[in-house]
Amino acid sequence: MGFSVFWGLFLGLLCFFNMGGGVWCDCNVRNLEIEGGNYTLTKQLQSGSTVVYHCPEGYYPYPAIRRCQLNNRWNPSPSRWSPARCKMVECPDPNTLENGNILPPQVQYFVNNETTVECYSGFKLYGSPQRYCLPNGKWSGRTPICRRDSGSHCPDPGVPPGASRTGNHFGISDKVTYICNNNLILVGSTERVCQENGQWTGIEPACYYRHTYDTPQEISEEFGSAIRSSLTTLESHDDTQEGRRIRIPKSGILNIYIGMDISESINETYIDNSKKAIMKLIDKISAFSVTPNYQIDFFASQIYKIVDIIDFSSGNVDLPSVMRNLRDFRVTTRDTSGTDLSLVFKKFYHQMSLLKTRVGEEVFKEHRHVIIVFTDGGFNMGGSPEPTVIKIKNMVYMNHTDDGKINPRDEYLDIYIFAVGSEIYDNNLMHLTTVRPNEKHYFRLDKISKELEQTFDDIIDEREVVGLCGLHRDYTPSVNNYNRNPLGDVDSRKMFPWVVSIIVTVETGVTKKCLGSLVTPQFILTAAHCFTTSDIITKIEVEVEEYNKIRVKEVKRRIIHPNYNINAKKHMNIGEFYDYDVALLQLQKPVDITISLRPICIPCTQETSDALKLVGKKTCTQHEEILLKNGDQLNFLTKTNDFYGKKSAIVKLGSNREACIKEALKAPGINTTNAEEVVTGNFLCTGGRFPQRDHIACQGDSGGAVYKNYERRSIQVALVSWGTKDLCKTRGSFAESDETSRDFHINLFRVIPFLKSHLGNDTQDEYEVLTFLDM
Ligand SMILES: *[C@@H]1O[C@H](CO)[C@@H](O)[C@H](O)[C@H]1NC(C)=O
Ligand SMILES: *[C@@H]1O[C@H](CO)[C@@H](O)[C@H](O)[C@H]1NC(C)=O
Ligand SMILES: *[C@@H]1O[C@H](CO)[C@@H](O)[C@H](O)[C@H]1NC(C)=O
Ligand SMILES: *[C@@H]1O[C@H](CO)[C@@H](O)[C@H](O)[C@H]1NC(C)=O
Ligand SMILES: *[C@@H]1O[C@H](CO)[C@@H](O)[C@H](O)[C@H]1NC(C)=O
Ligand SMILES: *[C@@H]1O[C@H](CO)[C@@H](O)[C@H](O)[C@H]1NC(C)=O
Repeated sequence: MGFSVFWGLFLGLLCFFNMGGGVWCDCNVRNLEIEGGNYTLTKQLQSGSTVVYHCPEGYYPYPAIRRCQLNNRWNPSPSRWSPARCKMVECPDPNTLENGNILPPQVQYFVNNETTVECYSGFKLYGSPQRYCLPNGKWSGRTPICRRDSGSHCPDPGVPPGASRTGNHFGISDKVTYICNNNLILVGSTERVCQENGQWTGIEPACYYRHTYDTPQEISEEFGSAIRSSLTTLESHDDTQEGRRIRIPKSGILNIYIGMDISESINETYIDNSKKAIMKLIDKISAFSVTPNYQIDFFASQIYKIVDIIDFSSGNVDLPSVMRNLRDFRVTTRDTSGTDLSLVFKKFYHQMSLLKTRVGEEVFKEHRHVIIVFTDGGFNMGGSPEPTVIKIKNMVYMNHTDDGKINPRDEYLDIYIFAVGSEIYDNNLMHLTTVRPNEKHYFRLDKISKELEQTFDDIIDEREVVGLCGLHRDYTPSVNNYNRNPLGDVDSRKMFPWVVSIIVTVETGVTKKCLGSLVTPQFILTAAHCFTTSDIITKIEVEVEEYNKIRVKEVKRRIIHPNYNINAKKHMNIGEFYDYDVALLQLQKPVDITISLRPICIPCTQETSDALKLVGKKTCTQHEEILLKNGDQLNFLTKTNDFYGKKSAIVKLGSNREACIKEALKAPGINTTNAEEVVTGNFLCTGGRFPQRDHIACQGDSGGAVYKNYERRSIQVALVSWGTKDLCKTRGSFAESDETSRDFHINLFRVIPFLKSHLGNDTQDEYEVLTFLDM
């Protein structure tokens, strides 16, 4: 939270006019300093203001804050003899381990202290053998457990650091309960029940000090994996990860309600960061195939509406206008008189009831709801939100009560709380979240900073979203500046995570370079002519970027389109004929999907229907109508040094096609009068200077994807095959077309049977396949 910084220098000078016109001196700055740190004030020295102390990493302030009370005194009051101090961060006592020892034994464990585990003989160690006390007051790794195969139905759930457990029987329906020692805060399940499936209900508890926070990375992992499972329509094929299910049927409705507490927010920076974090979250969610409805409210003692879910679901408001509303939101009145936490939940409950009335009970049953609230949990009006949360749960769960039994409707409601602030009222908040096996719904942050935006940016970048083809990051605006190398920035690789370089070496040692696109984790789509050479090919290398390193992948199989024959029309004075210039390379092993390596979407697949958010069964023809329209701008890539850059060109279809392709007759090696003989219906044509100056392809661009972006998804519609002129030699990699220069790209819609026979071959179980649509 940003507040204006105050210095001891101003002592005595800070008197403010109050509403009545008189002058008074409020709380003063005497003895407010903190040893080893500094402080900020939320409302200067007026009553209601808070001193927020800041310490370097690995330290926490004690006390955390002071409040200026109505009597103009600080609480707790500062004193010269015991000033605020930055104390070293401590981690909870790890000596809770049963059947083993933690080494070294200490009374207290401080940041950077390291422990190792020793299990008694006959017991095996699960969890982390070595742990470090981290600067956020948590132990690294996972809770160590010394286990013996006792034949119990559920495994020994262990005892986390700082906690005590009651319950030592682990059979079906047996219960264990936890408390945290020494007033630590228990985050997670206080009670866990052994279920028939051999798993414990809820999530492992953790004991937090008041100074313990979740790091952005933890939030990104834990919130990311929870929200993803609500968003992804595809089952992870990693079935060791239990509890991962299909949550949203393709036609399902998801409603997202976001509440942001701004009662502490005198400072614009705070509101700005909050807005940016929410915008980033929405932006990330838009990459998934579900299109949720949104209700967004900021709140203090009253509600500031950003978007109303009824307006959204009836189509009166769209996503771009939500983004605009968020961006333009300003708090005009200084409404800082109070916080009514229950108001925002009442609002959400009210909106849900309205939705239910609108769509009817039967349809409402199929609606899923995600509530996300950011607050410190403090309120001074409106009372506790708990009764309203119970009403919300009853409405969605249809009166199922939380009795440790599996709730058949638990996946219809998620309530996440981001507890944020220098002082968090955990007890007001922890019971408001929903509980789901192995999913964390309660997070503690010390502030809303730019890091939160980054955190939300990262949540879809993990490997779990393997099913999402074409997902990429967007970098604007410098990337559209062709004059500079747009890709000086390392992250820009994430804009085109599907591009690969192909290097073909022949006997003489000469190499030829092409581009290709990853279309499944094990297949590369490229041009067949990359492999036409009179010399014998000795090596084909595929270069990808995996885990920030360029890696060379081995090729298992090269599949050239059976109709490709460069010499087919020699007798007609067409020296080189590029029809069906398509090839697939099967890699020896599938690549690991990462943020910078992920397949592009190809037409006529269910995966692409999902990326386009098309509801219901679609056909290949419908995809073509959507994806290929005369005058559409298409993109393709070029590689200079180690960087990829984006080029663009306008596709000429329909009445514009003839004029476009006739320039092919001027290409070297061609001596015929019928352009259609050279450029068959299987090609798309780009180039020229109308209606814009198109970029023109260079030699090394061959085989690369010609694609379009739909929000955060890239869909390949063609691949670069050949052109009439090589302008790049003189004009460089980002050469613009002259009047007559043309490029011809293989239209993927014309080679679907070939792609389907390999990429959709579900009679084999060697590699992962795509689901092709009917023609
Ligand atoms: C908010 O606080 C930050 C840091 O505490 C400061 O840099 C910024 O100028 C403040 N903004 C306003 C509008 O007061
Ligand atoms: C206040 O303390 C924080 C943490 O120690 C430090 O990063 C920051 O630079 C300090 N600010 C000032 C103005 O001294
Ligand atoms: C634990 O950390 C404290 C504080 O840094 C340090 O004084 C102590 O030596 C550490 N203990 C061990 C065993 O490293
Ligand atoms: C849930 O309980 C409330 C109060 O007992 C009742 O009014 C409501 O009809 C019940 N809802 C369902 C779906 O059973
Ligand atoms: C082009 O074809 C015509 C007729 O087939 C022939 O007379 C002419 O010599 C050819 N020109 C070249 C340059 O091959
Ligand atoms: C599909 O897989 C089956 C089983 O491995 C194989 O026999 C068949 O040739 C494959 N089809 C193609 C087009 O590769």
